[in-house]
Amino acid sequence: MSAETKPSYSPGLAGVVAGETEICWVDPNAGLMYRGYDIHEMAEKANFEEVAYLLLNGELPNQKQLTEFSQQISVERTVPKEVLDGLRLMPKNTHPMDMLRTGVSMLAPFDPELNDHSHDANVRKAIRLIGKVSTLITDGYRIQQREQTIQDKPNLSLAGNFFYKLTGAVPEDWQIRMMDTIFILYADHEYNASTFAARVTASTLADMYAAVTSACGTLKGPLHGGANEESIYMLNQIATPDRAEAWLKDALAKKAKIMGFGHRVYKSGDSRVPIMREIARDLGKRVGKENWVPICEKLEQTMEREKGLCANVDLYAAPVFTMFGFDPALNTPIFAASRIAGWCAHVIEQHDHNRLIRPRSLYTGPALRPYPGSVAGNGAK
Ligand code: COA
Repeated sequence: MSAETKPSYSPGLAGVVAGETEICWVDPNAGLMYRGYDIHEMAEKANFEEVAYLLLNGELPNQKQLTEFSQQISVERTVPKEVLDGLRLMPKNTHPMDMLRTGVSMLAPFDPELNDHSHDANVRKAIRLIGKVSTLITDGYRIQQREQTIQDKPNLSLAGNFFYKLTGAVPEDWQIRMMDTIFILYADHEYNASTFAARVTASTLADMYAAVTSACGTLKGPLHGGANEESIYMLNQIATPDRAEAWLKDALAKKAKIMGFGHRVYKSGDSRVPIMREIARDLGKRVGKENWVPICEKLEQTMEREKGLCANVDLYAAPVFTMFGFDPALNTPIFAASRIAGWCAHVIEQHDHNRLIRPRSLYTGPALRPYPGSVAGNGAK
């Protein structure tokens, strides 16, 4: 065996630049931009379709392009009956993220352009996936609950339909606005774990559905997207602002990982937190649940003092989704309904400039040693 110079190693790939992208930049000093646009202004003024168009195409749409793009997504929201029937076979206790991952995988063979990785075909598949992922979540949830699925309202946007198909009630304009803002905040975040998983899969020249299936599996974990589900269980346990500090100190003393805190890139605050915090405050006033924000703020103060760690977007997303009335198991799928735009944009970029992503590992096993012979009994005597 040849001797090899040891490659440099960063556990968890921390600080490693693993590729180039024109899609998104996460500024460690609490900033975030999509294709050069600061998300803070777009979160307030744009809708999700506009941002999805930007992520996929590189430029903002004009009015005509946005109308066409929104109509295309609306048309593509329909999921084949065979896929919905497949989801009906899953046990009642199936987690919505597992249902989504399975649904995305089942969609693949229904796409006539599955194995065409050209730029234009990939954009068309991305539009299909953006529409259908939303439906897989809303219809999948109703199927899992053994309820009737609800027909789309074509006049509603993706955020509006998402809300409507889950709750069964046509959302107010302010609810759609909030949902759009949340979808914009979650739409992309450069080389986060699920996007990286999607890019690794795409880099083998596997198809977009395979890449998104990988991404869904990766998003589910509590250190990534699953944190917004875990956060609400934590906040429910704390229950009142006056209990937050003692609860947190106790959890830290037990070396627990506190959900909704910390980030690999942001070290002075998550760019999305101030907007999500204000949504939580506004929603709390509207629905008469004003306790959540003070609990989170108390946790933020204590965590900053005790560990120097900042909250991430999932801390505030959790109570927002709960105040909307959604089952906590839907928190991570809501994230996916938005991040699908980013995942697809990254798969397109990967296929457009592909090189196989294949890092090395640092071997820490035994040194070369003699094989003592087989105990299976089929080797030469
Ligand atoms: N709760 C308690 N301690 C935390 C923590 C948290 N949420 N996040 C980081 N830390 C601690 C680590 O234990 C470590 O402490 P140590 O130096 O004493 O060992 C230190 O802070 C540095 O953290 P590190 O492990 O290097 O962070 P990372 O970049 O590897 O991990 C996360 C980043 C996001 C995985 C991590 O912060 C985490 O697990 N957060 C909770 C899950 C979450 O909210 N995920 C959503 C992210 S958007």
